[in-house]
Amino acid sequence: MLVKNVLFGFLSLTLLGLLGFVVYTQENPEWKPYQRQYYRVLAEKTGDLKLANTPPKLVQTWLPDLNRTDRCTNCHMGIANPAFADQPQPFKSHPFLDGYMKSHPFEKYGCTVCHDGDGQATVVEKTHGIVHHLDRQLATGVMVQSACVRCHADMHEPGVEYPEAPAIMWGKQFVTQTAFMKCGACHAVKQYGWTAVLAPELSGIGSRTELSFYLVHEFQHMESTIHTKAQWEFEHFKDPQKITPGTKQVNKETGQEEWVGRTIMPNFVAIHKLTDEQTWMLTAFVMSLRDPKIEKIPMAYTPPRRKPVLAGAAPLKPSGKAGPAPAAKRKT
Ligand code: HEC
Ligand code: HEC
Ligand code: HEC
Ligand code: HEC
Repeated sequence: MLVKNVLFGFLSLTLLGLLGFVVYTQENPEWKPYQRQYYRVLAEKTGDLKLANTPPKLVQTWLPDLNRTDRCTNCHMGIANPAFADQPQPFKSHPFLDGYMKSHPFEKYGCTVCHDGDGQATVVEKTHGIVHHLDRQLATGVMVQSACVRCHADMHEPGVEYPEAPAIMWGKQFVTQTAFMKCGACHAVKQYGWTAVLAPELSGIGSRTELSFYLVHEFQHMESTIHTKAQWEFEHFKDPQKITPGTKQVNKETGQEEWVGRTIMPNFVAIHKLTDEQTWMLTAFVMSLRDPKIEKIPMAYTPPRRKPVLAGAAPLKPSGKAGPAPAAKRKT
Protein backbone atom coordinates (compact mmCIF):
# COMPACT_ATOMS: atom_id res chain seq x y z
CA MET A 1 0.00 0.00 0.00
CA LEU A 2 2.78 2.37 0.99
CA VAL A 3 4.69 1.55 -2.17
CA LYS A 4 1.59 2.32 -4.24
CA ASN A 5 1.08 5.66 -2.49
CA VAL A 6 4.68 6.67 -2.95
CA LEU A 7 4.51 5.67 -6.59
CA PHE A 8 1.27 7.62 -7.08
CA GLY A 9 2.73 10.65 -5.35
CA PHE A 10 5.83 10.45 -7.52
CA LEU A 11 3.85 10.15 -10.75
CA SER A 12 1.60 13.07 -9.81
CA LEU A 13 4.60 15.23 -9.10
CA THR A 14 6.20 14.33 -12.43
CA LEU A 15 2.98 15.16 -14.27
CA LEU A 16 2.65 18.44 -12.43
CA GLY A 17 6.26 19.25 -13.27
CA LEU A 18 5.68 18.49 -16.96
CA LEU A 19 2.54 20.58 -17.04
CA GLY A 20 4.40 23.42 -15.37
CA PHE A 21 7.15 23.17 -17.98
CA VAL A 22 4.66 23.25 -20.88
CA VAL A 23 2.88 26.29 -19.41
CA TYR A 24 6.21 28.01 -18.71
CA THR A 25 7.56 27.55 -22.25
CA GLN A 26 4.28 28.69 -23.80
CA GLU A 27 4.17 31.78 -21.62
CA ASN A 28 7.88 32.50 -22.06
CA PRO A 29 8.76 31.78 -25.68
CA GLU A 30 12.21 32.78 -26.88
CA TRP A 31 10.95 35.80 -28.84
CA LYS A 32 9.31 37.59 -25.91
CA PRO A 33 12.51 38.79 -24.19
CA TYR A 34 13.74 40.06 -27.60
CA GLN A 35 10.57 42.08 -28.06
CA ARG A 36 10.85 43.53 -24.53
CA GLN A 37 14.46 44.49 -25.22
CA TYR A 38 13.45 46.01 -28.57
CA TYR A 39 10.80 48.22 -26.96
CA ARG A 40 13.25 49.32 -24.24
CA VAL A 41 15.72 50.46 -26.91
CA LEU A 42 12.91 52.01 -28.97
CA ALA A 43 11.75 54.00 -25.93
CA GLU A 44 15.31 55.23 -25.39
CA LYS A 45 15.79 56.17 -29.04
CA THR A 46 12.45 57.98 -29.43
CA GLY A 47 12.34 59.48 -25.92
CA ASP A 48 8.79 58.10 -25.60
CA LEU A 49 9.20 56.11 -22.38
CA LYS A 50 5.69 54.61 -22.55
CA LEU A 51 6.86 52.43 -25.44
CA ALA A 52 9.05 50.45 -23.04
CA ASN A 53 5.92 48.82 -21.61
CA THR A 54 4.49 47.61 -24.92
CA PRO A 55 3.39 44.01 -24.31
CA PRO A 56 5.02 41.38 -26.55
CA LYS A 57 2.76 40.05 -29.28
CA LEU A 58 3.23 37.28 -31.86
CA VAL A 59 3.50 38.80 -35.35
CA GLN A 60 3.68 37.21 -38.78
CA THR A 61 3.72 38.18 -42.43
CA TRP A 62 1.22 36.10 -44.38
CA LEU A 63 2.15 35.85 -48.09
CA PRO A 64 -0.44 33.64 -49.78
CA ASP A 65 0.93 34.28 -53.30
CA LEU A 66 4.37 33.06 -52.24
CA ASN A 67 2.85 30.28 -50.10
CA ARG A 68 4.80 31.51 -47.08
CA THR A 69 4.16 32.73 -43.55
CA ASP A 70 7.22 34.42 -42.06
CA ARG A 71 7.61 35.04 -38.34
CA CYS A 72 11.23 36.19 -38.41
CA THR A 73 10.26 39.71 -37.28
CA ASN A 74 9.19 38.44 -33.86
CA CYS A 75 12.86 38.73 -32.99
CA HIS A 76 14.22 40.88 -35.85
CA MET A 77 12.02 43.75 -34.73
CA GLY A 78 14.26 46.62 -35.81
CA ILE A 79 14.72 45.22 -39.32
CA ALA A 80 12.93 48.07 -41.16
CA ASN A 81 14.00 50.85 -38.77
CA PRO A 82 17.18 52.67 -39.90
CA ALA A 83 17.64 53.93 -36.31
CA PHE A 84 18.60 50.38 -35.31
CA ALA A 85 21.70 50.21 -37.53
CA ASP A 86 23.92 50.43 -34.44
CA GLN A 87 22.19 47.60 -32.56
CA PRO A 88 23.36 43.98 -32.22
CA GLN A 89 21.41 41.11 -33.83
CA PRO A 90 18.59 40.32 -33.82
CA PHE A 91 17.62 44.03 -33.60
CA LYS A 92 19.91 45.54 -36.25
CA SER A 93 18.29 47.22 -39.23
CA HIS A 94 18.57 45.44 -42.57
CA PRO A 95 21.40 46.30 -44.99
CA PHE A 96 20.50 48.26 -48.17
CA LEU A 97 17.31 49.74 -46.68
CA ASP A 98 18.10 52.88 -48.61
CA GLY A 99 18.94 50.93 -51.74
CA TYR A 100 17.30 48.01 -53.47
CA MET A 101 15.42 46.82 -50.37
CA LYS A 102 12.98 49.62 -51.24
CA SER A 103 11.96 47.47 -54.22
CA HIS A 104 11.34 44.49 -51.88
CA PRO A 105 9.24 45.82 -48.99
CA PHE A 106 9.11 43.35 -46.08
CA GLU A 107 5.28 43.43 -46.01
CA LYS A 108 5.21 42.09 -49.56
CA TYR A 109 8.32 39.87 -49.60
CA GLY A 110 8.76 38.65 -46.04
CA CYS A 111 12.19 37.15 -45.43
CA THR A 112 12.42 33.52 -46.50
CA VAL A 113 12.01 34.21 -50.22
CA CYS A 114 15.60 35.55 -50.00
CA HIS A 115 16.93 33.89 -46.82
CA ASP A 116 15.15 30.53 -46.84
CA GLY A 117 15.09 29.05 -43.34
CA ASP A 118 11.96 27.96 -41.48
CA GLY A 119 9.63 30.95 -41.68
CA GLN A 120 7.05 29.65 -39.26
CA ALA A 121 9.43 28.72 -36.47
CA THR A 122 9.85 31.11 -33.55
CA VAL A 123 12.91 29.63 -31.87
CA VAL A 124 16.51 30.38 -32.86
CA GLU A 125 17.40 26.69 -33.00
CA LYS A 126 14.92 26.05 -35.81
CA THR A 127 15.31 29.27 -37.78
CA HIS A 128 19.10 29.43 -37.56
CA GLY A 129 20.40 26.09 -36.42
CA ILE A 130 21.37 23.46 -38.95
CA VAL A 131 18.39 21.15 -38.91
CA HIS A 132 19.12 17.87 -40.65
CA HIS A 133 17.08 17.41 -43.83
CA LEU A 134 15.12 20.59 -43.20
CA ASP A 135 14.22 21.59 -46.68
CA ARG A 136 15.59 25.06 -46.70
CA GLN A 137 18.56 26.04 -44.58
CA LEU A 138 18.91 29.69 -43.58
CA ALA A 139 21.07 31.53 -46.11
CA THR A 140 23.47 34.15 -44.73
CA GLY A 141 26.32 36.19 -46.22
CA VAL A 142 26.88 35.81 -49.95
CA MET A 143 24.66 32.72 -50.07
CA VAL A 144 21.61 35.02 -49.88
CA GLN A 145 22.41 36.19 -53.40
CA SER A 146 21.68 32.74 -54.82
CA ALA A 147 17.99 33.47 -54.08
CA CYS A 148 17.83 36.64 -56.21
CA VAL A 149 17.73 34.48 -59.35
CA ARG A 150 14.44 32.94 -58.21
CA CYS A 151 12.87 36.11 -59.58
CA HIS A 152 15.70 37.90 -61.43
CA ALA A 153 16.25 35.06 -63.92
CA ASP A 154 18.00 37.46 -66.31
CA MET A 155 21.06 37.61 -64.00
CA HIS A 156 22.60 34.74 -65.97
CA GLU A 157 22.07 36.33 -69.38
CA PRO A 158 25.13 37.54 -71.30
CA GLY A 159 26.00 41.18 -70.64
CA VAL A 160 23.30 41.62 -67.97
CA GLU A 161 24.88 43.06 -64.85
CA TYR A 162 23.63 43.32 -61.28
CA PRO A 163 26.24 45.08 -59.13
CA GLU A 164 23.77 44.45 -56.27
CA ALA A 165 24.54 40.71 -56.49
CA PRO A 166 28.36 40.82 -56.78
CA ALA A 167 28.88 37.14 -55.89
CA ILE A 168 26.68 35.99 -58.77
CA MET A 169 28.40 38.44 -61.16
CA TRP A 170 31.83 37.26 -60.00
CA GLY A 171 30.79 33.62 -60.52
CA LYS A 172 29.39 34.38 -63.94
CA GLN A 173 32.64 35.98 -64.98
CA PHE A 174 34.63 33.10 -63.48
CA VAL A 175 32.79 30.31 -65.30
CA THR A 176 32.54 32.11 -68.64
CA GLN A 177 35.94 33.83 -68.77
CA THR A 178 38.45 33.24 -65.98
CA ALA A 179 38.33 29.47 -65.41
CA PHE A 180 41.18 27.63 -67.19
CA MET A 181 38.64 25.13 -68.51
CA LYS A 182 34.98 25.74 -69.19
CA CYS A 183 32.55 23.99 -66.87
CA GLY A 184 30.59 23.36 -70.05
CA ALA A 185 33.27 20.90 -71.20
CA CYS A 186 31.67 18.40 -68.81
CA HIS A 187 28.41 19.85 -67.43
CA ALA A 188 25.13 20.78 -69.07
CA VAL A 189 23.91 24.21 -67.91
CA LYS A 190 20.88 25.49 -69.85
CA GLN A 191 21.36 29.10 -68.70
CA TYR A 192 24.74 29.20 -70.48
CA GLY A 193 23.84 26.98 -73.42
CA TRP A 194 26.17 24.17 -72.32
CA THR A 195 25.11 20.66 -73.23
CA ALA A 196 27.97 18.31 -72.24
CA VAL A 197 27.11 14.96 -70.63
CA LEU A 198 30.35 13.94 -68.83
CA ALA A 199 29.08 15.22 -65.49
CA PRO A 200 25.71 15.92 -63.78
CA GLU A 201 23.55 18.70 -65.24
CA LEU A 202 23.72 21.83 -63.07
CA SER A 203 20.83 23.87 -64.54
CA GLY A 204 18.50 23.50 -61.53
CA ILE A 205 20.93 22.54 -58.79
CA GLY A 206 20.00 25.52 -56.60
CA SER A 207 16.34 24.47 -56.54
CA ARG A 208 17.00 20.97 -55.24
CA THR A 209 15.75 20.21 -51.76
CA GLU A 210 18.23 19.25 -49.05
CA LEU A 211 16.64 15.80 -48.94
CA SER A 212 16.96 15.08 -52.67
CA PHE A 213 20.55 16.33 -52.50
CA TYR A 214 21.26 14.12 -49.52
CA LEU A 215 19.95 11.03 -51.29
CA VAL A 216 22.44 11.21 -54.16
CA HIS A 217 25.53 12.63 -52.44
CA GLU A 218 28.09 11.09 -50.15
CA PHE A 219 28.70 13.15 -47.04
CA GLN A 220 31.19 10.91 -45.25
CA HIS A 221 34.29 12.49 -46.79
CA MET A 222 33.41 15.99 -45.62
CA GLU A 223 35.46 17.85 -43.06
CA SER A 224 32.58 19.79 -41.52
CA THR A 225 29.83 18.08 -39.53
CA ILE A 226 27.36 20.49 -41.17
CA HIS A 227 25.79 18.29 -43.81
CA THR A 228 24.00 20.80 -46.02
CA LYS A 229 24.18 21.10 -49.79
CA ALA A 230 25.94 24.49 -49.62
CA GLN A 231 28.62 23.17 -47.28
CA TRP A 232 29.06 20.07 -49.49
CA GLU A 233 29.49 22.18 -52.65
CA PHE A 234 31.95 24.48 -50.89
CA GLU A 235 34.12 21.56 -49.74
CA HIS A 236 33.74 19.83 -53.12
CA PHE A 237 35.12 22.92 -54.89
CA LYS A 238 38.03 23.02 -52.45
CA ASP A 239 38.94 19.38 -53.09
CA PRO A 240 36.71 17.41 -55.47
CA GLN A 241 38.87 14.27 -55.26
CA LYS A 242 38.61 14.20 -51.48
CA ILE A 243 34.84 14.62 -51.43
CA THR A 244 34.15 12.27 -54.35
CA PRO A 245 37.01 9.74 -54.14
CA GLY A 246 35.10 6.83 -55.72
CA THR A 247 35.13 3.41 -54.05
CA LYS A 248 38.00 1.22 -52.90
CA GLN A 249 38.32 -2.00 -54.89
CA VAL A 250 40.90 -4.76 -55.13
CA ASN A 251 42.62 -4.86 -58.49
CA LYS A 252 42.31 -8.50 -59.64
CA GLU A 253 45.63 -8.44 -61.48
CA THR A 254 47.89 -6.79 -58.94
CA GLY A 255 45.97 -7.72 -55.76
CA GLN A 256 46.35 -4.07 -54.65
CA GLU A 257 43.52 -1.91 -53.27
CA GLU A 258 42.76 1.10 -55.43
CA TRP A 259 40.14 3.84 -55.77
CA VAL A 260 37.74 3.36 -58.67
CA GLY A 261 35.44 6.07 -60.02
CA ARG A 262 37.34 9.04 -58.56
CA THR A 263 35.87 12.29 -59.93
CA ILE A 264 37.44 13.99 -62.94
CA MET A 265 36.21 17.40 -61.78
CA PRO A 266 39.30 19.70 -61.79
CA ASN A 267 40.32 21.47 -58.58
CA PHE A 268 39.58 25.04 -59.69
CA VAL A 269 40.22 26.41 -56.20
CA ALA A 270 43.81 25.13 -56.20
CA ILE A 271 44.49 26.04 -59.84
CA HIS A 272 43.17 29.61 -59.53
CA LYS A 273 44.24 30.04 -55.89
CA LEU A 274 40.73 31.04 -54.86
CA THR A 275 40.28 32.30 -51.29
CA ASP A 276 37.53 30.85 -49.07
CA GLU A 277 35.53 34.01 -49.76
CA GLN A 278 35.78 33.48 -53.50
CA THR A 279 34.94 29.79 -53.06
CA TRP A 280 31.76 30.79 -51.22
CA MET A 281 30.97 33.17 -54.09
CA LEU A 282 31.38 30.28 -56.54
CA THR A 283 29.12 28.16 -54.30
CA ALA A 284 26.51 30.95 -54.23
CA PHE A 285 26.82 31.12 -58.02
CA VAL A 286 26.09 27.41 -58.62
CA MET A 287 23.23 27.59 -56.11
CA SER A 288 21.82 30.48 -58.13
CA LEU A 289 21.24 28.07 -61.02
CA ARG A 290 17.50 27.70 -60.41
CA ASP A 291 14.76 25.71 -62.06
CA PRO A 292 11.87 28.11 -62.86
CA LYS A 293 9.42 25.18 -62.89
CA ILE A 294 10.21 24.41 -59.25
CA GLU A 295 10.44 28.01 -58.03
CA LYS A 296 7.04 29.07 -59.53
CA ILE A 297 7.21 32.81 -58.89
CA PRO A 298 3.84 34.57 -59.41
CA MET A 299 3.57 37.46 -61.90
CA ALA A 300 3.27 40.06 -59.11
CA TYR A 301 6.80 39.13 -58.04
CA THR A 302 8.37 39.00 -61.49
CA PRO A 303 10.70 41.97 -62.00
CA PRO A 304 11.32 43.80 -65.28
CA ARG A 305 14.32 42.48 -67.22
CA ARG A 306 17.55 44.44 -67.37
CA LYS A 307 19.15 45.41 -70.64
CA PRO A 308 22.58 43.93 -71.36
CA VAL A 309 25.46 46.33 -70.75
CA LEU A 310 27.83 46.93 -73.66
CA ALA A 311 31.40 45.69 -73.40
CA GLY A 312 33.77 48.23 -71.88
CA ALA A 313 31.51 49.08 -68.92
CA ALA A 314 33.16 49.52 -65.52
CA PRO A 315 34.38 46.16 -64.13
CA LEU A 316 32.58 44.73 -61.12
CA LYS A 317 34.18 44.63 -57.71
CA PRO A 318 33.91 41.30 -55.83
CA SER A 319 31.70 41.47 -52.72
CA GLY A 320 34.49 40.73 -50.26
CA LYS A 321 31.97 39.63 -47.63
CA ALA A 322 32.36 36.17 -46.16
CA GLY A 323 29.94 33.33 -46.84
CA PRO A 324 27.65 31.70 -44.30
CA ALA A 325 28.53 32.08 -40.63
CA PRO A 326 31.72 30.15 -39.84
CA ALA A 327 30.89 26.50 -39.17
CA ALA A 328 32.00 26.69 -35.55
CA LYS A 329 29.59 29.54 -34.80
CA ARG A 330 26.54 27.71 -36.06
CA LYS A 331 24.48 25.31 -34.05
CA THR A 332 24.22 21.76 -35.36
C1 HEC B 1 13.65 33.49 -31.76
C2 HEC B 1 14.30 34.65 -32.32
C3 HEC B 1 14.68 34.68 -33.80
C4 HEC B 1 13.89 34.34 -34.87
C5 HEC B 1 12.45 33.84 -34.88
C6 HEC B 1 14.70 34.57 -36.05
N1 HEC B 1 15.95 35.05 -35.69
FE1 HEC B 1 17.46 35.58 -36.95
N2 HEC B 1 18.68 35.97 -35.37
C7 HEC B 1 18.32 35.84 -34.04
C8 HEC B 1 19.49 36.10 -33.21
C9 HEC B 1 19.52 36.06 -31.68
C10 HEC B 1 20.57 36.36 -34.11
C11 HEC B 1 22.03 36.65 -33.75
C12 HEC B 1 22.73 35.41 -33.25
C13 HEC B 1 22.79 34.28 -34.23
O1 HEC B 1 23.28 34.43 -35.35
O2 HEC B 1 22.31 33.16 -33.88
C14 HEC B 1 20.03 36.26 -35.45
C15 HEC B 1 20.79 36.44 -36.61
C16 HEC B 1 20.28 36.37 -37.92
C17 HEC B 1 21.04 36.56 -39.13
C18 HEC B 1 22.52 36.89 -39.21
C19 HEC B 1 23.23 35.56 -39.16
C20 HEC B 1 24.70 35.65 -39.47
O3 HEC B 1 25.34 34.60 -39.33
O4 HEC B 1 25.19 36.72 -39.84
C21 HEC B 1 20.19 36.38 -40.19
C22 HEC B 1 20.52 36.49 -41.68
C23 HEC B 1 18.89 36.08 -39.63
N3 HEC B 1 18.98 36.07 -38.25
C24 HEC B 1 17.76 35.84 -40.40
C25 HEC B 1 16.57 35.33 -39.89
C26 HEC B 1 15.46 34.87 -40.71
C27 HEC B 1 15.42 34.91 -42.22
C28 HEC B 1 14.50 34.42 -39.85
C29 HEC B 1 13.17 33.78 -40.19
C30 HEC B 1 13.24 32.57 -41.01
C31 HEC B 1 14.99 34.62 -38.49
N4 HEC B 1 16.25 35.17 -38.56
C32 HEC B 1 14.27 34.33 -37.34
C33 HEC B 1 17.06 35.56 -33.56
C34 HEC B 1 15.98 35.13 -34.32
C1 HEC C 1 15.32 40.88 -51.43
C2 HEC C 1 15.97 39.89 -50.62
C3 HEC C 1 15.93 39.98 -49.11
C4 HEC C 1 14.82 40.01 -48.29
C5 HEC C 1 13.35 40.01 -48.72
C6 HEC C 1 15.30 39.99 -46.94
N1 HEC C 1 16.69 39.99 -46.92
FE1 HEC C 1 17.88 39.97 -45.28
N2 HEC C 1 19.54 40.14 -46.46
C7 HEC C 1 19.53 40.13 -47.83
C8 HEC C 1 20.88 40.31 -48.31
C9 HEC C 1 21.33 40.33 -49.76
C10 HEC C 1 21.71 40.46 -47.15
C11 HEC C 1 23.22 40.71 -47.10
C12 HEC C 1 23.95 39.43 -46.93
C13 HEC C 1 25.43 39.69 -46.86
O1 HEC C 1 26.01 40.00 -47.90
O2 HEC C 1 25.98 39.59 -45.75
C14 HEC C 1 20.83 40.33 -46.01
C15 HEC C 1 21.26 40.40 -44.69
C16 HEC C 1 20.43 40.15 -43.58
C17 HEC C 1 20.88 40.05 -42.22
C18 HEC C 1 22.33 40.18 -41.74
C19 HEC C 1 22.58 41.63 -41.53
C20 HEC C 1 24.02 41.98 -41.31
O3 HEC C 1 24.25 43.17 -41.09
O4 HEC C 1 24.89 41.09 -41.38
C21 HEC C 1 19.79 39.81 -41.43
C22 HEC C 1 19.73 39.64 -39.92
C23 HEC C 1 18.64 39.74 -42.32
N3 HEC C 1 19.07 39.95 -43.62
C24 HEC C 1 17.36 39.47 -41.91
C25 HEC C 1 16.23 39.57 -42.73
C26 HEC C 1 14.88 39.49 -42.25
C27 HEC C 1 14.47 39.23 -40.81
C28 HEC C 1 14.07 39.68 -43.34
C29 HEC C 1 12.56 39.75 -43.36
C30 HEC C 1 11.94 40.74 -42.48
C31 HEC C 1 14.93 39.83 -44.51
N4 HEC C 1 16.23 39.77 -44.09
C32 HEC C 1 14.48 39.99 -45.82
C33 HEC C 1 18.43 39.98 -48.66
C34 HEC C 1 17.10 39.98 -48.23
C1 HEC D 1 10.42 37.16 -54.89
C2 HEC D 1 11.06 37.74 -56.07
C3 HEC D 1 12.33 38.58 -55.89
C4 HEC D 1 13.49 38.22 -55.24
C5 HEC D 1 13.80 36.92 -54.50
C6 HEC D 1 14.41 39.32 -55.44
N1 HEC D 1 13.81 40.31 -56.18
FE1 HEC D 1 14.64 42.06 -56.75
N2 HEC D 1 12.87 42.67 -57.53
C7 HEC D 1 11.74 41.90 -57.64
C8 HEC D 1 10.68 42.68 -58.27
C9 HEC D 1 9.26 42.20 -58.60
C10 HEC D 1 11.23 43.96 -58.52
C11 HEC D 1 10.54 45.15 -59.16
C12 HEC D 1 9.89 45.92 -58.04
C13 HEC D 1 9.28 47.20 -58.51
O1 HEC D 1 9.51 47.62 -59.64
O2 HEC D 1 8.59 47.80 -57.67
C14 HEC D 1 12.62 43.92 -58.05
C15 HEC D 1 13.49 44.99 -58.14
C16 HEC D 1 14.85 44.90 -57.87
C17 HEC D 1 15.79 45.96 -58.11
C18 HEC D 1 15.43 47.34 -58.66
C19 HEC D 1 15.04 47.24 -60.09
C20 HEC D 1 16.25 47.14 -60.96
O3 HEC D 1 16.30 46.24 -61.83
O4 HEC D 1 17.17 47.95 -60.79
C21 HEC D 1 17.03 45.49 -57.76
C22 HEC D 1 18.35 46.20 -57.86
C23 HEC D 1 16.85 44.13 -57.27
N3 HEC D 1 15.51 43.81 -57.35
C24 HEC D 1 17.86 43.32 -56.81
C25 HEC D 1 17.64 42.10 -56.13
C26 HEC D 1 18.66 41.36 -55.45
C27 HEC D 1 20.13 41.74 -55.37
C28 HEC D 1 18.05 40.25 -54.90
C29 HEC D 1 18.67 39.16 -54.04
C30 HEC D 1 19.36 39.60 -52.84
C31 HEC D 1 16.64 40.31 -55.28
N4 HEC D 1 16.43 41.45 -56.02
C32 HEC D 1 15.70 39.35 -54.94
C33 HEC D 1 11.59 40.59 -57.23
C34 HEC D 1 12.53 39.89 -56.48
C1 HEC E 1 36.59 17.58 -66.63
C2 HEC E 1 35.18 17.60 -66.38
C3 HEC E 1 34.64 18.67 -65.44
C4 HEC E 1 34.80 20.04 -65.53
C5 HEC E 1 35.62 20.85 -66.52
C6 HEC E 1 34.00 20.59 -64.45
N1 HEC E 1 33.39 19.60 -63.74
FE1 HEC E 1 32.11 19.82 -62.17
N2 HEC E 1 31.96 17.81 -61.98
C7 HEC E 1 32.51 16.88 -62.82
C8 HEC E 1 32.08 15.54 -62.43
C9 HEC E 1 32.46 14.23 -63.10
C10 HEC E 1 31.22 15.71 -61.31
C11 HEC E 1 30.45 14.62 -60.55
C12 HEC E 1 31.32 13.87 -59.58
C13 HEC E 1 31.70 14.68 -58.39
O1 HEC E 1 30.96 14.72 -57.41
O2 HEC E 1 32.75 15.33 -58.45
C14 HEC E 1 31.18 17.15 -61.05
C15 HEC E 1 30.43 17.71 -60.04
C16 HEC E 1 30.19 19.08 -59.93
C17 HEC E 1 29.28 19.67 -58.99
C18 HEC E 1 28.40 18.93 -58.01
C19 HEC E 1 27.16 18.47 -58.75
C20 HEC E 1 26.11 17.91 -57.85
O3 HEC E 1 25.26 17.15 -58.34
O4 HEC E 1 26.12 18.24 -56.67
C21 HEC E 1 29.31 21.02 -59.19
C22 HEC E 1 28.48 22.09 -58.47
C23 HEC E 1 30.27 21.28 -60.24
N3 HEC E 1 30.78 20.09 -60.67
C24 HEC E 1 30.57 22.54 -60.71
C25 HEC E 1 31.51 22.79 -61.71
C26 HEC E 1 31.89 24.13 -62.14
C27 HEC E 1 31.31 25.42 -61.58
C28 HEC E 1 32.83 23.97 -63.12
C29 HEC E 1 33.57 25.05 -63.88
C30 HEC E 1 34.26 26.06 -63.09
C31 HEC E 1 33.03 22.52 -63.30
N4 HEC E 1 32.21 21.85 -62.43
C32 HEC E 1 33.89 21.95 -64.22
C33 HEC E 1 33.34 17.14 -63.90
C34 HEC E 1 33.75 18.39 -64.31
